[in-house]
Amino acid sequence: MADALLSIAHLAKAYGALKVTDDLSLDIPEGELHAIIGPNGAGKTTLIRQLAGSIPSDAGRIVFAGRDITRTSVPARVRLGLARSFQITSILAGFTVLENVALAVQARSGSSFRFWGRVADEAALNGPAMAALADVGLAHRARTRASLLSHGEKRQLEIALALATGPRLLLLDEPLAGVGREESAALVALLAALRGRLTIVLVEHDMDAVFQLAERISVLVYGRVVATGTAAQIRDNAEVRTAYLGEEASLCCWLSRAARRSTATARSSTASASRSTPARSWRCSAATAWARRRRSARCSASCRRSAGASYSTAST
Ligand SMILES: Nc1ncnc2c1ncn2[C@@H]1O[C@H](COP(=O)(O)OP(=O)(O)OP(=O)(O)O)[C@@H](O)[C@H]1O
Ligand SMILES: [Mg+2]
Repeated sequence: MADALLSIAHLAKAYGALKVTDDLSLDIPEGELHAIIGPNGAGKTTLIRQLAGSIPSDAGRIVFAGRDITRTSVPARVRLGLARSFQITSILAGFTVLENVALAVQARSGSSFRFWGRVADEAALNGPAMAALADVGLAHRARTRASLLSHGEKRQLEIALALATGPRLLLLDEPLAGVGREESAALVALLAALRGRLTIVLVEHDMDAVFQLAERISVLVYGRVVATGTAAQIRDNAEVRTAYLGEEASLCCWLSRAARRSTATARSSTASASRSTPARSWRCSAATAWARRRRSARCSASCRRSAGASYSTAST
């Protein structure tokens, strides 16, 4: 793709014999919101980490804004305009919301900063930090200690941290994970507002959100892109339905059974989601997020056994 902002060619990453990213090629044009979906363990977070530069790639090439960044450091990638939010929260709980974002602004600008001083006192950092907070609807929480935010607000703050670095490309790894229905709707609205302003790579298990937001979707299975296309093309793709949706269906059925057995560990919202929608893969984001927390050999084995299983859903 000639005008791709991000061009990934034959990217590879293995841990021992396990090929986690397997000859993966993908072009993402400037301004696109591109979702990457796939079963647990498909290699989505690994790909995000390779793109962000936090792990090296074994082979292949990553070109961003016309520059080969395959071996570029994380700080240099950030300075080039590539920002990442994390699947696991990266917020400094003891700092205020504003201080968290000001630190992210400082990381990009490289301004001098006294670590034991009050970072938010640095006027040059406050302006961009407040702008990022306003972008995500958190300006009114600027002086609040980050530990006091709700889970959904923490995810908003993580997006603000990424925005504070002034990115052209935003890498989001499961921004809706573990978030309740109302806060999830607010985050989806936030991502919809960001769409078009910058290029976004969105890894997400919440299929409703993915199909609502993404201009194109790539499906990752065992480190390979098995399909790329619009939501309609992905829904109709036979290989996706067998390789990916079959696994999700099985996973959700497994979760449904597990949720009925579990009385203590599952959060009530995710447990009720898995109970009420045992057969619909498109609705299982909360359940799969919960499964990830409880990741077990049994779950993966169940997924792998069901690869290739026929599957149908009310949405098709
Ligand atoms: N540092 C590591 N060492 C060994 N194996 C790893 C390492 N990191 C990831 N893996 C393995 O690589 C595979 C892909 O992991 P990854 O976290 O990228 O999957 P994912 O698609 O993000 O899954 P999920 O949807 O559960 O977040 C998994 O089998 C995982 O166990
Ligand atoms: Mg992941």
